[in-house]
Amino acid sequence: MHILCVVLLLASLVLGHSSPALNKTWEEWKVQNHRVYDNETEICFRRAVWQKNLNLVLRHNQEASAGKPSFTLGLNHLSDMTTEEINERLNGLRLEELVLFKNHTLKRANGSLTPPSVDWRKEGLVSPVQNQGLCGSCWAFSSLGALEGQIRKRTGVLVPLSPQNLVDCSITDGNHGCRGGYISKAYSYVIRNGGVDSERFYPYEHKNGICRYSVNGKAGSCSTFHILPSGDERALQEAVASVGPVAVAVNAMLPSFHLYRGGLYNVPNCSPRSINHAVLVVGYGTDNGQDYWLVKNSWGTAWGEEGFIRIARNKNNLCGIASFAVYPTL
Ligand SMILES: *[C@@H]1O[C@H](CO)[C@@H](O)[C@H](O)[C@H]1NC(C)=O
Ligand SMILES: *[C@@H]1O[C@H](CO)[C@@H](O)[C@H](O)[C@H]1NC(C)=O
Ligand SMILES: *[C@@H]1O[C@H](CO)[C@@H](O)[C@H](O)[C@H]1NC(C)=O
Ligand SMILES: *[C@@H]1O[C@H](CO)[C@@H](O)[C@H](O)[C@H]1NC(C)=O
Repeated sequence: MHILCVVLLLASLVLGHSSPALNKTWEEWKVQNHRVYDNETEICFRRAVWQKNLNLVLRHNQEASAGKPSFTLGLNHLSDMTTEEINERLNGLRLEELVLFKNHTLKRANGSLTPPSVDWRKEGLVSPVQNQGLCGSCWAFSSLGALEGQIRKRTGVLVPLSPQNLVDCSITDGNHGCRGGYISKAYSYVIRNGGVDSERFYPYEHKNGICRYSVNGKAGSCSTFHILPSGDERALQEAVASVGPVAVAVNAMLPSFHLYRGGLYNVPNCSPRSINHAVLVVGYGTDNGQDYWLVKNSWGTAWGEEGFIRIARNKNNLCGIASFAVYPTL
């Protein structure tokens, strides 16, 4: 690690990227993101990774300002981590076996009623963006986001539900807490348990804990869940329009996803076959002739567009956005 670090630092020095201004930016970034490293080796390594990410951001945004690509990158709280580290520690979605879910497939909605754009945030169906931290709990945030929307539709009240409840208590359903889980098994837990607590009652802790579910904090439940036809963006659009926010799985492996700042995420090499992260589709629309999905992430508001990303829509299931889409029924 140390040798790699020296090589990287030297490379950046040779390229003329070490300056007092850059050092200041680094110091500010560390303060802003509460970073304290254990030793010199670690400092050196993190600085090198950060600088590599910064170079990527600067190069990408220079091209973006010339009109291509259609989105910008930026530093965020993940910028001293390598691509591999982020994928390992945050992207904890496990792949589902679709064959198990034949009976959950949705009857198609009436497509002729599907509006050209939807944003469920405007209808109050979407709770504030949270930050999952260094815990592979995306599956819990995504599944509960869809459930929050359905409860809000039924009761008129939007209550953030507790991902920590799912992290701690759904092990016997096949989930692995911060080491990853499944959207479907999150719902299996809520169904089996007869409910899930509110975030306020059972707050998020960024790590595995002992199950402390209590019916006193119960803020929601569901009776079943539905899986959409895999890869069918039209079916996803119809479900989002007629049902509400839908939990989906995406390919979030690329550095451009980790560093995404804003705009329309249209990356031709974002393969639908490399799914590793769960997020929530809260709407869709069209911007300058380009269709997009409006997606809520759980990486805090410093990432993306206040925590959201717009992913290109109707581009052959880009990033696998329609590969595994699920919503619960109360
Ligand atoms: C920037 O920081 C590096 C590493 O801490 C140091 O070696 C270098 O001298 C600093 N450069 C400037 C111009 O301050
Ligand atoms: C430095 O800190 C890193 C990260 O905490 C640790 O993995 C490594 O073993 C430490 N190295 C030394 C020499 O103490
Ligand atoms: C699907 O439904 C059929 C008929 O109701 C039932 O026999 C089968 O066990 C169900 N499969 C699963 C995986 O639930
Ligand atoms: C779909 O909605 C349109 C417009 O309301 C209606 O004319 C049509 O009959 C509906 N189709 C089905 C299959 O319900």
